[in-house]
Amino acid sequence: VRVSGVIAPGRLPWVGHAAAVARHPLRFFEQLQGRGGMVGVSFGPLSTVFLTEPELVHQMLMDRGGVLDKGRFYDKVRPLAGNGIVLANGEDHRRQLAVVKPAFHHRHLAAHTTVMRDVAATATGAWQPGRPIAVDKQMHAITLRILARTMFGAGVDDHAVAELIRLLPGVLRGIMTRTVTPDALLRLPLPANRRFDRAFADLRAAISRIMRAHRGSATDGGDLLSMILATRDPRTGRPPTERDVCDQIVAVTMAGSETAATSMAWTFYEIARHPQVEARLVAEIGAVLGDRPVEAADAGRLPYTRQVLQESLRLHQPILVISRRTTGELDLSGVRVPAGTELFYSPYGLFRDAGLYPRPHDFDPGRWQTRPVSALPRGAFLPFGGGPRHCLGEHFAWLMMTVVVVEVLRRWRLRLPRGFQARAMPWATINPRSLPMTAYAAPAPTLEDAR
Ligand code: HEM
Repeated sequence: VRVSGVIAPGRLPWVGHAAAVARHPLRFFEQLQGRGGMVGVSFGPLSTVFLTEPELVHQMLMDRGGVLDKGRFYDKVRPLAGNGIVLANGEDHRRQLAVVKPAFHHRHLAAHTTVMRDVAATATGAWQPGRPIAVDKQMHAITLRILARTMFGAGVDDHAVAELIRLLPGVLRGIMTRTVTPDALLRLPLPANRRFDRAFADLRAAISRIMRAHRGSATDGGDLLSMILATRDPRTGRPPTERDVCDQIVAVTMAGSETAATSMAWTFYEIARHPQVEARLVAEIGAVLGDRPVEAADAGRLPYTRQVLQESLRLHQPILVISRRTTGELDLSGVRVPAGTELFYSPYGLFRDAGLYPRPHDFDPGRWQTRPVSALPRGAFLPFGGGPRHCLGEHFAWLMMTVVVVEVLRRWRLRLPRGFQARAMPWATINPRSLPMTAYAAPAPTLEDAR
């Protein structure tokens, strides 16, 4: 499909841009910015179009004509991960949205805050002063525990949560690996394939056990599992199968665990590198919250904390590419994109576009003070996407990140090894290859901090 005349540099015969992407994925997508709105990128015989201007991204996400599905990559993931909300297209997606969305309603956030606070306090309370901590792994464990306890409701027992935390990361990693593995290799009885199959079977069994326990308990019904279990198939009137439930849990966890965990890890990395940012955060938290527990409404009462998290989401945007495919003709700023076109954009690349963000590689929370999102062109900063596939967990994620930052900074100051530079590794999300930090007990706030 040739929509624009601009072809990304680095194309080779046969493989197209696949080699350039494989060599330096982050650099490749960053340098596409500023090359013209629509840039052709090919992977072997597959031609795709990358959108590099905010207006085009906005129009794609809004999908006013309803002609977009999630594209080819998801076709490959679906047989592995099931057809949960992140993967479903068209009518399937609309039906699932009606089931899943209420679980993310504002009225549940207060109860979720208690879980978030509890999990963060327990995890960080176990840290030892002066001892190294793998902050990336800690953030993953905290996020998964919070997700498990909020998705399954208060009734879920600790053993079940521990099972999920043990099994989910391997399954999610396996799904990612499989999407880039040739189909023929997946069918062979290789140890890696058998391990994956076993881990997935164990995960399904664990979710089934939770489901059965949940059916037998009197829960408040505000959790995701209750909502899924209460649905009936509009054609048959039947309740969801164990497989449907498992697919949905895997989909929501896929969407919410890596993204949030990685963002929090990068935030602590940048806080440690910017002592003045840390000092302002500590001061704000002290001034606004004092000693009282952080509540759901506090996510809106800590403006500097929000700027720091927002800058972290910009500079360390966890999502490398977002995809769509046209199922009918699409008009993008007057350009007619034919049906069957694979469209992409890179949030990571867009958020580092020097034309939109001066000194794009600097971590500067203050930039949001001088130029808020409303002053940027539409489509320029949508870390949670937009339109019909907008992130359902956006408020949940802001709250979780805020609670974890507050709980950590109340107890600890995290420090990096001297001269340590985190290396970004693009995988399911763009995460730090490792993030060893040392925790020191937080000093009592000084008069200066409290001012
Ligand atoms: C910093 C953390 C997060 C970021 C940056 C993020 C970002 C996104 C983005 C960009 C999308 C849209 C993808 C697309 O357009 O194809 C999305 C979708 C989604 N997110 Fe998030 N997300 C985060 C956290 C979460 C959390 C914590 C949850 C759940 C607890 C969650 C649940 C979802 C779901 C269910 C979807 C699919 C919506 C649909 O297709 O209808 N996300 N997320």
